[in-house]
Amino acid sequence: CGIVGYIGGKQAQSILLEGLSKLEYRGYDSAGLAIYNGQQLNVEKSKGRLMDLETKLATSGLQGSLGIGHTRWATHGKPSDENSHPHVDHDGKFAIVHNGIIENYIELKEELIAKGYRFTSQTDTEVLAKLLADHWDGGLLSTVQKVVARLHGAYALGIISEYEPDKMIAVRYASPLVIGIGEGENFIASDIPAILKHTRDVYIMEDGEMAVIYEAGVELMMMDGTPIKRESMRVDWDIETAEKGGFDHFMMKEIYEQPKAIRDTLASRVKGNIVDLSQEIGLTLEQIQNIEKIHFVACGTAYHAGLVGKYVLEDLARIPVECDVASEYRYRNPIITDRTLVVVVSQSGETADTLAALREAQKHGARVMAITNVVGSSVAREADDVITTWAGPEIAVASTKAYTSQLIAIYLLGLYFAQAKGYKSAEELQGIVTDLLTLPEKVEEVLKQEKTVEAFARSIAKHNNLFFLGRGLDYAVALEGSLKLKEISYIHSEAYAAGELKHGTLALIEDNIPVIALATQQSVFEKTVSNIQEVKARGAYVLGLAVEGDTGLIKSVDEVITIPQVSDLFAPVLAVVPLQLLAYYACVERGYDVDKPRNLAKSVTVE
Ligand code: G6P
Repeated sequence: CGIVGYIGGKQAQSILLEGLSKLEYRGYDSAGLAIYNGQQLNVEKSKGRLMDLETKLATSGLQGSLGIGHTRWATHGKPSDENSHPHVDHDGKFAIVHNGIIENYIELKEELIAKGYRFTSQTDTEVLAKLLADHWDGGLLSTVQKVVARLHGAYALGIISEYEPDKMIAVRYASPLVIGIGEGENFIASDIPAILKHTRDVYIMEDGEMAVIYEAGVELMMMDGTPIKRESMRVDWDIETAEKGGFDHFMMKEIYEQPKAIRDTLASRVKGNIVDLSQEIGLTLEQIQNIEKIHFVACGTAYHAGLVGKYVLEDLARIPVECDVASEYRYRNPIITDRTLVVVVSQSGETADTLAALREAQKHGARVMAITNVVGSSVAREADDVITTWAGPEIAVASTKAYTSQLIAIYLLGLYFAQAKGYKSAEELQGIVTDLLTLPEKVEEVLKQEKTVEAFARSIAKHNNLFFLGRGLDYAVALEGSLKLKEISYIHSEAYAAGELKHGTLALIEDNIPVIALATQQSVFEKTVSNIQEVKARGAYVLGLAVEGDTGLIKSVDEVITIPQVSDLFAPVLAVVPLQLLAYYACVERGYDVDKPRNLAKSVTVE
């Protein structure tokens, strides 16, 4: 989501709307404004693109020079007018915009309901608005501090109140927020592009900080009120760079957002060392035990996540799994019964073939679960159960953070079913969950190898053909690595199950052809090394991808990239990252458009 706020001498509405337009890449399913007109707070909001809000405002408009605005990417509650921000309390005294997820909102909501509060939206943010009213102690800052002390989760907040219209309050914890410093006016925003037209002097807020923002100045402090002294920062980016968070392309920004996307997708679903999906999946224990088979159905990168899903669900829950591309599945007359669980995976939730496969499966009596990144998307609305990936909007056509988040959702599903089925002991499963929680930091480690990958990418950019090899889960990741490279660098590549190569494709291996060999799976490590030797012997130039400490590989390959120690099951999340970087740099070296590859679209809503 995107937040903006303004306090100063000018009319707020146009400043806020313009700011929001620069934040639309952060979410665009609904938008809204709250502005104080000298007497009271007025709110206007609308489902849909920012344009829909602008149309609503065109006739009446909101007067005043203190206001907050929001552009939404739905988390709790589907996109609708009611669920749009800003949210207000019952008397309209407080207005709040929020980016992030309040993990304990259900508990807080129940407490407020018991006190007689009524809710009109499904959002966690409305709970905050009502909490402000409930905790009101006569001072805006102290009230906000009391409310914030009760929150678990991630939040960037912008708050204004009719009680104290000389200020705006900003709070940041694990969601971005910046303060723009003007002359006789100040701003808040989720991201710099929203305010760059008005000022280049900003405070980048850190986790656990808050600020009271007046027309004439800003007081930065810790959550407990301890003042913070910090120099403001001068931004010298242009608007375009600023939108990409300082990266050259959205794809790179999104590659670097993966640790956060993974953390967010895990958050609130792991309690202690137990996976709990009961809030989002309606299946009873008995229904889970009765599942006879699972079909993963998806397109493109999401299909590759489904391939990983086959290994994961079979290994953890011992349920037979098939994985199909949606455009095949819908026409191949698959065997579906009322004991089949169909899991459709879709970043956008709007892919025509995936949606058609979902409907086909439901028609034949299957229960359909969706793993999607877009709350309220067609797939999310029509599926019986939904696991949302919290990757946030993905802009680059080549999918990166959506894929790794889909893998996380699949692991959570596998573990949840495994707990219900009991093939593995509770201790063993808890050990696996502990391992799962280490992935965000390990992805950060892998990202540190960017320069090594870049150098290799530049060296392969002149080739027109190359191969990816791997066994087991490495094969599933090899397919995704190959797709990434094809999509954006236009280098032809093929991914092969390493053991299958000798049955034909080995004929294509000749002097200096680049081969990227994935060898992260300990269970088949030696077998993979033998296959690497087969291609080396025919002159291939091999980049090996292995787990730290696997010295056995180093002798067999020309270059190595390592990932931190990890179990076979979770290696895909780490192994895919260098392959994403490889595709990225090969594309840059060849001079193509990273974020908008030729002939491709982000969301394919036609058959
Ligand atoms: C398009 C995109 C791919 C994506 C596929 C499935 O082809 O270019 O990046 O993987 O659609 O999209 P979905 O939104 O269903 O995951």
